[in-house]
Amino acid sequence: MKTLGAFLIAAMLASLPGALAAQPPADIVCVQCHGRQTGRTGEPVALWRQSIHAENGIGCNGCHGGDPNDADNAMSPARGFIGVPAESAIPAVCGKCHVGVMNDYLSSAHGKALGGGGPTCVTCHGNHKVLRASLDLINEKDCSRCHGFERARIIRDAMQKTEGSIVAIDRRISRYKNEGADVERIEKGLFALRNRFHTLFHDQDVEKVWKEAVRIDGELGKIEAVLGEMNETRRQRKIVGAFAVGGALLAALLFHLLRKSYD
Ligand code: HEC
Ligand code: HEC
Ligand code: HEC
Ligand code: HEC
Ligand code: HEC
Repeated sequence: MKTLGAFLIAAMLASLPGALAAQPPADIVCVQCHGRQTGRTGEPVALWRQSIHAENGIGCNGCHGGDPNDADNAMSPARGFIGVPAESAIPAVCGKCHVGVMNDYLSSAHGKALGGGGPTCVTCHGNHKVLRASLDLINEKDCSRCHGFERARIIRDAMQKTEGSIVAIDRRISRYKNEGADVERIEKGLFALRNRFHTLFHDQDVEKVWKEAVRIDGELGKIEAVLGEMNETRRQRKIVGAFAVGGALLAALLFHLLRKSYD
């Protein structure tokens, strides 16, 4: 029975390609051929497989160009292959898809130092094993390679507190949602705030981070107030519910006693 169930589920999954889980583009010719190589040209494959890009269907050609379906012409410049991007070209390669981040980066102190000792996207995120970003990327070891950690620490501290509030509110909304509360509006509100918050970093503008963090904290406070009201009605409903259950039990008991006294 168990194996039949597993078989049916497997058959269902197979008939819904990409609908339930994003398929890693493991079958493109770049991965097939480079996956058989060792050293400099083979290593990127294993790293890329663990990346958020593989998870979201972005293959080698997403960054390097080329034709992922034609082994003979895969690395032909006529098919858009650009080879290994030079350091100064990296922001534009990533920026094809991450346009907003690229623009913030280019106008920042880091972008202005591109080619002159400033970090590129891959200095902080890596090139092949790119993972979901978080504030953990701002750490003493990585950020004090080129300058002191002090300015980085100020940005990190300003963002850490707000990040903590966002995570806590998100958990609370999920809990209310599981109890059947209508949280759609505040959920959307939080989503928008979170997106705005996560665009702050690449400017490297300490003042701006402070100002925005204060504004976003204010907005988060409003969401917390709405959640507070919901909590109150939820509590009252529980009391009313308890009375209703108690009343029903009492009625049942009375009914039972009445019937008994007739017997
Ligand atoms: C049939 C095998 C094969 C296929 C298919 C293939 N490659 Fe390659 N690739 C190689 C070999 C061999 C090298 C190393 C020799 C060279 O540079 O030509 C290489 C080198 C590279 C390099 C490094 C170039 C350099 O200048 O150091 C990149 C980047 C690359 N491939 C990306 C891709 C991408 C992206 C695809 C798919 C669109 C792809 N490859 C498809 C065999 C392949
Ligand atoms: C998210 C963008 C991205 C993806 C996806 C990606 N690469 Fe790269 N790759 C780069 C960048 C950027 C460099 C330049 C490295 C640097 O300067 O750090 C690079 C460098 C390379 C090199 C040269 C390595 C060296 O040490 O000389 C090879 C080979 C390569 N990539 C192959 C691949 C293959 C094969 C895939 C797919 C399995 C792939 N890349 C997927 C961005 C990417
Ligand atoms: C062909 C499009 C494409 C290119 C080119 C590309 N990315 Fe991505 N990237 C994506 C997609 C799609 C996702 C997953 C969806 C998302 O979270 O935005 C993603 C996710 C990410 C994330 C995680 C985002 C998060 O929410 O935490 C980082 C970091 C990232 N990419 C960095 C890079 C870097 C660095 C480069 C260049 C070396 C690059 N990307 C090149 C499409 C691309
Ligand atoms: C100095 C280090 C550094 C550099 C340079 C850098 N990033 Fe980031 N990136 C971070 C950190 C730290 C975060 C996490 C910020 C947060 O959690 O709010 C992040 C977050 C991201 C995200 C997810 C957040 C979002 O807004 O979608 C993407 C995508 C991303 N970076 C792409 C890039 C690209 C593309 C470049 C180059 C144009 C780049 N990064 C350059 C450190 C860096
Ligand atoms: C590869 C070298 C390098 C790395 C790594 C690096 N930076 Fe920078 N950073 C620079 C350069 C170059 C400048 C511009 C010159 C200066 O202000 O010192 C700069 C400037 C800054 C500034 C000042 C911006 C301003 O306008 O005052 C901040 C803040 C900053 N970096 C934060 C970070 C953080 C956070 C990290 C780690 C996630 C980091 N940096 C990693 C090279 C680097």
